[in-house]
Amino acid sequence: MFATMGALGLAPTAQAAQRDQPFRALSASDFTLTGRAAAKVVIVGGGIAGLAAAYELGKAGYDCTVLEARDRTGGRNFTVRGGDTTVDLSGTKQTARFADGHYMNCGPARIPQWMITLDYCRELGVPIEVFTNVNADAYLYNESTGMTKPMRYRTAKADVYGYVSELLAKATNKGALDKELTATDQEKLIEFLADWGELGDKLTYEGGSNRGYTTWPAAAGTPGVLRGDIPTASEIFGSAVGRYFSFEFEFDQAMLMFQPVGGMDQIPKALTRAIGADRIRTGAVVSKITDKGNGVSVTYTQGGRTKVVDADYCIGALPPNILAKIPHNLGSGVQSALEAITPSSAAKIGLEYKSRWWELDHNIYGGITETDQDVTHIWHPSYGFHGERGVLIGYYNYGSDADSYAALAPKQREERAVAAGVKIYGEKYRSELVSSFSHHWRQTPHLEAAWHYTPGGPDDPRYKPLNEPTGRVLFAGDWLSYMDAWQHGAFSSARKAVTALHTRVLSS
Ligand code: ALA
Repeated sequence: MFATMGALGLAPTAQAAQRDQPFRALSASDFTLTGRAAAKVVIVGGGIAGLAAAYELGKAGYDCTVLEARDRTGGRNFTVRGGDTTVDLSGTKQTARFADGHYMNCGPARIPQWMITLDYCRELGVPIEVFTNVNADAYLYNESTGMTKPMRYRTAKADVYGYVSELLAKATNKGALDKELTATDQEKLIEFLADWGELGDKLTYEGGSNRGYTTWPAAAGTPGVLRGDIPTASEIFGSAVGRYFSFEFEFDQAMLMFQPVGGMDQIPKALTRAIGADRIRTGAVVSKITDKGNGVSVTYTQGGRTKVVDADYCIGALPPNILAKIPHNLGSGVQSALEAITPSSAAKIGLEYKSRWWELDHNIYGGITETDQDVTHIWHPSYGFHGERGVLIGYYNYGSDADSYAALAPKQREERAVAAGVKIYGEKYRSELVSSFSHHWRQTPHLEAAWHYTPGGPDDPRYKPLNEPTGRVLFAGDWLSYMDAWQHGAFSSARKAVTALHTRVLSS
């Protein structure tokens, strides 16, 4: 009766707290009167998808075992703090020396409000804080277009929007839009453009306060000094700063964004606690997956010993490039689907500074500086404001840029990243540096990818053996979702696998 009341909206339901993602959390009561019981499930991979699957199955009493090759859970959700050590595939060893309380999120670092990742933060009691994804006072600097110094985001936007508005207003007034818009609509358009582009009375762009000031307005006697050096339309379009502006309204990047307080790995840590650490075997490298028809057997090595887990079902929650290397008897359809999905590179370097000079000297509190140099994105930390120290992300880059840094020794990566930053921020970018730590996903053991490219998208018919498995092995991961490279993709894919598994158990 309670469930019926829930369906009618008269009682709280498990899904009432969820977003618009179709999912009904499992419950032990699902088995009442069915004569069936929860099954034993072995989950290969303790990243977000694997942990989420174990967590959700656990709600209905499934007996889950998670096999994780690394010495910690989380997969690509990886936060580095002082004392943490990594060894990459080429044997390069690094130990982070960040001061207490400082960290870098090597993988996921920002969460949009609509993603179910935030539902898990709420449900698991992981506190969150705002992550500043866009900042009007961060810089834009395109070296290849001939810029000799960086521009503030706000200044670049005022100039680009200003000239676009002026040109569109002029074209409108010359009758260029007479076929498209009525006279009244044209008036409304001009009204919008005059405001959006801060145009003068003659509908020309001559700069304004949106560009910012060199002396900011203050007490009587200090009206402020507007920033000068207004570029021409040709100069501002030639600088190509406008290429960065659509980012802030992309569906997955628009503010507000959030991060867990104290590091993104608070999410896998909370999931691990909720599942029960005794159900998770770390340092367990899977070497074989066998579907036996009436069950599944997974072979793994741990501490030099070969072991086997037998279960009723298996969820393959490793990246596809890793799964494809593990011997199995799941058929050529599964293998060719896994091989069709290709791994991508991305990298980050954390630069720890002994002062927060970007706040003190540049008035930048969080947010991202964009550049066409190979460091690509420079992130100012969205935590620890006004503290003594801070960790900047000195590069967050992809593809061949990430690979070219990976080919260097850590010290050279730091030097190259710092040289790029000095061009934007000046000498303190070098002189205040105390330590660095760099991370490259293609070179990370047991993961070997930052994210993946899935030709044709996850619903392409070639991935049917992964999406609708016929045997006892199901698959989950961000790479099987429309939100690859987001934890939301991993969570939603895990929910899909869990629902499919539970449905089979209930009807078997
Ligand atoms: N989701 C990743 C990011 O936001 C790729 O950078």
